[in-house]
Amino acid sequence: MSEKRSSFTGKVGFVLAAAGSAVGLGNIWRFPYLAAQYGGGIFLLVYLILTLTFGFSLMAAEIAIGRKTGQSPIGAFTTLGKKYSVVGYIGALIPALILPYYSVIGGWVLKYMVGFVTGEGAAMASDTFFGGYISSRSEPVAWFVVFITITAFIVILGVDKGIEKVSKVMMPLLIALIIFIAVYTICTMDGAVEGVKYYLLPDFSKFSFKTVVAAMGQLFYSLSIAMGIMITFGSYMKKDISIEKSIHQIEIFDTGVAFLAGLMIIPAVYAFSGIEGMNSGPGLMFITLPKIFETMPGGGVIGVVFFIMVFFAALTSSISLMETVVSVFQDRFKMDRIKATLTVLVVSVVLGLISVFGYSIWSDFTLFKMQMLDFFDFLTNSLMMPICALGTSLIVGYFIKPKTLIEELEIGGKFKSKHLFTVMIKFIVPICIVLILLSSFGVIKI
Ligand code: PHE
Repeated sequence: MSEKRSSFTGKVGFVLAAAGSAVGLGNIWRFPYLAAQYGGGIFLLVYLILTLTFGFSLMAAEIAIGRKTGQSPIGAFTTLGKKYSVVGYIGALIPALILPYYSVIGGWVLKYMVGFVTGEGAAMASDTFFGGYISSRSEPVAWFVVFITITAFIVILGVDKGIEKVSKVMMPLLIALIIFIAVYTICTMDGAVEGVKYYLLPDFSKFSFKTVVAAMGQLFYSLSIAMGIMITFGSYMKKDISIEKSIHQIEIFDTGVAFLAGLMIIPAVYAFSGIEGMNSGPGLMFITLPKIFETMPGGGVIGVVFFIMVFFAALTSSISLMETVVSVFQDRFKMDRIKATLTVLVVSVVLGLISVFGYSIWSDFTLFKMQMLDFFDFLTNSLMMPICALGTSLIVGYFIKPKTLIEELEIGGKFKSKHLFTVMIKFIVPICIVLILLSSFGVIKI
């Protein structure tokens, strides 16, 4: 017998759960390095505009589909029409591909957390430490496996509620600490103010189509949209809650944390290495933060506390990723929960090892000129999520029609952005995404 679908206890419950899934390494690790790389202020501006338009409309569509059908992604799309189920399948595959490399980065966080505890902080502040660490043979493997095994344990034991409680306390503390580090850096380091300007003032000459592609991929990743997760969330949401208001709260929270993380990291990068530092890529946070902590009185302790909090933020996201994949395995292959989780664990370890070895023993091997971790990141964020978003917008815009979802969106209160929603879903989202995909495949040059 299938269990009755549980629902969130109320408005706050829904927003907090969605924010727990949304706020993670995407905000603290991924956003700052992309903003640094893609021109600072201009990236921030494009990102904000896309959040309020693309992000809002797609999230509204997904939550409404979930609440209307009461099902998780594959089932939901199949309910809307059998031929639409393919979008559900693509969506379900995305978290399965993100989870492994997400856990590799979770492993980096663990390494740095333990490093600060064991007094390795000073060594980690050197320019070469991060590169040396990720290219070493066995340690990154071990930390990655530890991180993903912890995630699997929590999923099996079903204690995620406990973790959520801890992270509800950790999250505000993390935000306070990020603000503290940002203020400290800006006030004490020479050159940091230049970095603040780079981050906040858009330089339109740096605008390129790549900025839009990167910002859109980041938006999907950070808000956990275009992969079906919000459909699942919506299916648990009660009817009397306003979807529109909830989305605004999630967006403010998620974007706020990303913005602050950028403010913590980018001015410091400017102070330490000037504009050249901006191109450091995925290692940016791990290279910059130990340097800040090194200059700070009591930095060793602050480093430990900071990485513990980042660890919890990463863990709530990895749990939500794994839960999604496990529930697909349970539904599709009729597995029990433990078996499904162990299967997902084994598959993820294998996939994750490809990313880990991509920096060490297989570093000569690249796909489309990318290291393996970057490749998985590109595959999910720049290809699969746009495809999933395109599919969703076409199905909603032209087959089931925006009106059907607007009815759902109006149940819990007035839906003020009705027109924006319709225009975005029918025209702007599909046109922009087609352009993005064509340019990603090199068919057109924009
Ligand atoms: N949004 C999360 C983050 O920013 C990552 C994530 C993606 C979590 C997809 C769950 C699902 O870190």
